[in-house]
Amino acid sequence: MYRFIVRVLFLMPAETAHYFALNCLRAALHFPFFYMLMRRLFFVYQPVEFLGIHFPNRVGLAAGFDKNAKYLKEFMALGFGSVEIGTVTPKPQPGNAKPRLFRLLKDEAIINRMGFNNDGVEVIATRLKNRPQGLVVGGNIGKNKVTPNEDAARDYEWCFEGLYDVVDYFVVNVSSPNTPNLRALQDKEPLMHILSLLVKKRLTYIEQGKLFKPILLKIAPDLTREQLNDVIAIVCESKIEGIVATNTTISRDNLLTDSATVNAIGAGGLSGKILFNHATEVLQYINQTSKSQIPLIGVGGVDSVEKAKQKMDAGATIIQLYTGLIYKGPALVKQIAGVKN
Ligand SMILES: Cc1cc2nc3c(=O)[nH]c(=O)nc-3n(C[C@H](O)[C@H](O)[C@H](O)COP(=O)(O)O)c2cc1C
Repeated sequence: MYRFIVRVLFLMPAETAHYFALNCLRAALHFPFFYMLMRRLFFVYQPVEFLGIHFPNRVGLAAGFDKNAKYLKEFMALGFGSVEIGTVTPKPQPGNAKPRLFRLLKDEAIINRMGFNNDGVEVIATRLKNRPQGLVVGGNIGKNKVTPNEDAARDYEWCFEGLYDVVDYFVVNVSSPNTPNLRALQDKEPLMHILSLLVKKRLTYIEQGKLFKPILLKIAPDLTREQLNDVIAIVCESKIEGIVATNTTISRDNLLTDSATVNAIGAGGLSGKILFNHATEVLQYINQTSKSQIPLIGVGGVDSVEKAKQKMDAGATIIQLYTGLIYKGPALVKQIAGVKN
């Protein structure tokens, strides 16, 4: 059934298909019976405690799929225990020119250069006030394209403030390849500055009686070992709680799709099958180097139970999906959620 749906969806441009599928699901879920049926079919309650949060299961939707927190109920119906919304920026922005999302069918991969298209923190925070119960929501935050890197920390703080009361955890995204220079924020000094600002802000919130919200850092798979060592040191020093490994890669190595097609697509982050080994190596390196002291969310190339297990063996507690969901469908969510510890 999913194969048939995919064939139809793949006849459309990728971004059109994305919203078409979500809106069809939304229309169907207007019928409470259909929602209950979907939950019955796809949801597995296999709870996991992570960073003091009760996750209904270990499968999360990776950032970028529901950037504006518009489809939380729909993803609950598909069986997800958590959704990472965003990347959210302080002001709304349209993102890069279309087309900006490309399928590489032979590789079961995607190249995207969306560029943080989103409704902005104010609108998204308002929307989240009515978020559904029973789903963990992470807030993935970034900076506006027009904000120079010297002022980036203020953008992250702005989003942190705006979302603090309406999300369960935060992810600081300094690893998207689609915002010029963003990944330079993974360097020691700017990164330490951003993270300590957020930790300080959180402390004042806790003193005011607000709940503790864990902060994680999302990193690129393209960091060298030396850079990863710095990241580990910064995570420990800044006293944030964890790492999301990894974002998309800028590498185009080992693709089955012919290079003329790949070159014609141009810049963007590559995700899917091809990313799996590299993203998992990064995860494992962090876990081993930190002696399993850093809580980890594993993302990148998961498209089977076997690969989810490998992420878990490499140190991940929560497993996120994006491209695997598109190519394999929601049955994958259920299969992974059912994996025992
Ligand atoms: C179209 C698209 C948009 C994305 N947007 C974001 C984003 O806004 N913020 C972010 O942190 N990651 C974003 N990602 C990266 C995913 O969250 C994930 O880290 C990456 O795709 C690797 O996982 P996958 O191989 O399962 O897709 C995006 C990925 C895709 C394919």
